[in-house]
Amino acid sequence: MRHPRISPNEITFGTAKRMSLGQLIKRISKYLKPHYLKLGTVFVITMVSTLLSLVGPKLCGQAIDAITGDGSGFTKVLGYAGVLLIVYVVSGILAYAGTILMCATTRAIVRKMRDDTFDHLTTLPVSFFDHRQAGDLLSVMSYDVDTLAEALASDLITCLKSAVMVVGSLAMMLTIAPPLVIVFAITVPLSAGLTKFITKRSRPLFRKRSAKLGELNGYVEEMISGQKTTKAYSVENRVAEKFETLNKAAVDAYTEAESIGTITGPSVNFVNNLSLTLISVIGALMYMWGYRGITAGDISSFVLYSRKFSGPINEVANIIGDLQSAMAAADRVFRLLDEPSEAPDAENAVVLSNVKGNVEISNLNFGYVPERQIIFDMNIKAKEGQVVAIVGHTGAGKTTIVNLLMRFYDQYTGQICIDGQDISMATRDSLRQAFSMVLQDTWLFTGTIYENVAYGREGVTREDVERVCKEAMIHSFITHLPQGYDTMLEDGAINISKGQRQLLTIARAMLSEAPILILDEATSNVDTRTEIRIQQAMNKLMAGKTCFVIAHRLSTIRSADCILVMEKGDIVEQGTHEELMKIPNGVYAELCSMDFKRGGD
Ligand SMILES: Nc1ncnc2c1ncn2[C@@H]1O[C@H](COP(=O)(O)OP(=O)(O)OP(=O)(O)O)[C@@H](O)[C@H]1O
Ligand SMILES: [Mg+2]
Repeated sequence: MRHPRISPNEITFGTAKRMSLGQLIKRISKYLKPHYLKLGTVFVITMVSTLLSLVGPKLCGQAIDAITGDGSGFTKVLGYAGVLLIVYVVSGILAYAGTILMCATTRAIVRKMRDDTFDHLTTLPVSFFDHRQAGDLLSVMSYDVDTLAEALASDLITCLKSAVMVVGSLAMMLTIAPPLVIVFAITVPLSAGLTKFITKRSRPLFRKRSAKLGELNGYVEEMISGQKTTKAYSVENRVAEKFETLNKAAVDAYTEAESIGTITGPSVNFVNNLSLTLISVIGALMYMWGYRGITAGDISSFVLYSRKFSGPINEVANIIGDLQSAMAAADRVFRLLDEPSEAPDAENAVVLSNVKGNVEISNLNFGYVPERQIIFDMNIKAKEGQVVAIVGHTGAGKTTIVNLLMRFYDQYTGQICIDGQDISMATRDSLRQAFSMVLQDTWLFTGTIYENVAYGREGVTREDVERVCKEAMIHSFITHLPQGYDTMLEDGAINISKGQRQLLTIARAMLSEAPILILDEATSNVDTRTEIRIQQAMNKLMAGKTCFVIAHRLSTIRSADCILVMEKGDIVEQGTHEELMKIPNGVYAELCSMDFKRGGD
């Protein structure tokens, strides 16, 4: 028995209600539309193939009736067998062609759907990803799209075939012996009822089985990623115990579900055999009483048709389950597609060009969520070529300023201007091109070191990449790798250290010609000596650029033109290192002395 596919995660996107079946079908048919011709062909091929296969039992019956003692009967039977063979071969070939065509069509649909989903993901605002787990989105793109595709590919054809088969064989049976059909009035409701009864009880168990398996997988994943911590705290035994408990629960759920689920097959079989028996007995009686000249061949045709008739009916329950989960999957896919994109640039948006790098933030107020304001009435002025350092405790709002400068979040009040141009009236592309940045969370992708540094830039030569890597103090490390710049960085770049990752992202930023540079804790993971040397390289690089430097280690920002001290979304002090050190009981002076004591200097 096939089990209904159940999505492992019951995530719901957006606040919108679940789509109605009608809406879903409408959305799906939009994807089907370009393929109507192919789908029509599949429809016709499947119809013909199924109808052809319906001829089989009739021919069989006639062949049986043709059996006589002499040679002429045998020739006739051979003739029937020949025709039968041809009919089945043609029907088989057609069915195969139909399935292949349908598979190709659904793959094309899946491809389009995945492309659309991925394209849409790239247009979504940063804030969208604050609330969604990457794993959830991944499962929509892979699992849900696949569930839908599978349903399209197999269930649609099965439905069509079943419908033709049921109607066709019923019609044939009616032409042979109408009274015998009455047997189905008993057996069909019986097997449908049985299937429904069992599915109703087994479905929750299958869901439980998936959930338990999900729990188990989640636990294993967590333990693998945290294995160092497990070892360090010597809690392997406890971890293994917990696993055993979860594993037992999963196995129990599995057994429970299977033991009920597997009843379906035998019980439906029993009903089928029951109907066969009834048909044989009643058929034999009709033969004996000479009902309308019924022959033995007729009876055997009827028996064969009855098999064709009840098969699809027993499938219906499974298909309905599949279709239900396909609709649930479609719902998640389309709801993700309906998530609003980043608002498009205003019609009269200005393209920032030849940016000099004068940045002015005035009366800025912002919160990621309306209930919690993070930035309070902030004013910052950075002139072309200046280095502005932002310091403050964890959670003060430093990274938040970067997010707003890059327009990752839009819902602020106040104004941010670059060269006097309000950035909310500039195109996002031109704005973001004016910046290069090293983010707090370094990000490297699967690719060579060269590709990672040259990321997204056209016309970058090998020499350029080597130059910036030298400046970022990572060149000698790279050249000592067996493949040098062509070394592949594995998934998540775990084959290099945290500090090395940071140096690579610094090199990446150094490659950019953008007039404004943002360094968010750029050197927090490198040792002090490397940091000082990078600082020297950066000073060269920063020359002529407006720079925002966020750092916990205050030694790196001493020479900044202006240091902003942030506290809880407010700028509490502002000035050069010397000026700030003079403030009695100043926050900056205190931070500096702590930094000094900690040994950061
Ligand atoms: N995406 C977000 N959604 C909601 N709140 C956020 C988000 N990002 C940050 N915050 C909140 O905003 C506040 C400021 O965060 P921010 O990242 O700007 O701090 P920070 O000064 O950069 O700290 P750190 O020195 O640790 O990097 C924090 O209290 C944090 O909880
Ligand atoms: Mg930060």
